[in-house]
Amino acid sequence: MSIAYLNGEYLPLAEARISPLDRGFLFGDGIYEVIPYYDGKSVGLVPHIERMIDGLAAIEIKCNKSADQWKVLLDDLIARNAGATNNLGIYVHVSRGTDVKRFHAYPENVEPTIFCFTFDIKDPEPVDREKVHGYTVTTSEDLRWKRCHIKSTALLGNVMHFQQGHASGNSECLLYNANNELTEGSSVNAFIVKDGVVITPIQDNQILPGITRRIIIDSLKADGSIKVEERTVTMDEVHNADEVWISSSSKEIAPITHIDGTPVGDGKAGPVWEAAFRLYTAAKFTNS
Ligand code: PDD
Repeated sequence: MSIAYLNGEYLPLAEARISPLDRGFLFGDGIYEVIPYYDGKSVGLVPHIERMIDGLAAIEIKCNKSADQWKVLLDDLIARNAGATNNLGIYVHVSRGTDVKRFHAYPENVEPTIFCFTFDIKDPEPVDREKVHGYTVTTSEDLRWKRCHIKSTALLGNVMHFQQGHASGNSECLLYNANNELTEGSSVNAFIVKDGVVITPIQDNQILPGITRRIIIDSLKADGSIKVEERTVTMDEVHNADEVWISSSSKEIAPITHIDGTPVGDGKAGPVWEAAFRLYTAAKFTNS
């Protein structure tokens, strides 16, 4: 069983306990991260930690761990959990802490609750458009809140959209705003490809600033052979795209084969996906 970290202690995950008065439990008042490690090497550890520190500052949770202290803690937890498979994800959760009553305002003098555990993740997909697992998605108007750039543990809006996709036999739900513009998926960022150009929505309050998204954009720009644009993407463009991809720490870059039952392009992973996934794979351990 996974060894978890809870408020300074290491213990078996099933033995970890928090108070029901923890504000993470009562209000979803916290910040989280999911960080992948393949063969013990992390992907984007530094930017993941930076995003978490930014998220904690945005909601005024005073957690005085430095980026270096986080790195030591997380690497240590991976080492403690290394086993038959060394492909592990870490879930990191910092809530505002446990109050003595249920009261909406931020309490004074409460220590944040820090909880981390590891879980097995799959081997990376092959860099081969004939063999990669493709995903099908549904679509929905984005009915979450207007602070999607904060990686909040309050995920009910995301969970409800994910469930829409899941209930109809799909593995994600692509979301669009009131102007019919793509935002992201319920637990992923989104990209389209048209005429060889990779296009993804700009990083604003409508999307999570995904670490995988950033590694993809940076690796494409560094290579220079595939043009990449961050701009508004309409749902018409999504439906007429040659390729559509989703990205996240657990899915890396995953091709979408069908949207609402209609094939994307020829209904298979495309050549630009394969080229981009090769570049991403070569670059992914750089910032760790
Ligand atoms: N999901 N957008 C949303 C809404 C997400 O929840 C995630 C990540 C992403 C991709 O971000 P990144 O590349 O940094 O993983 C985009 C995580 C993995 C989750 O909730 O499990």
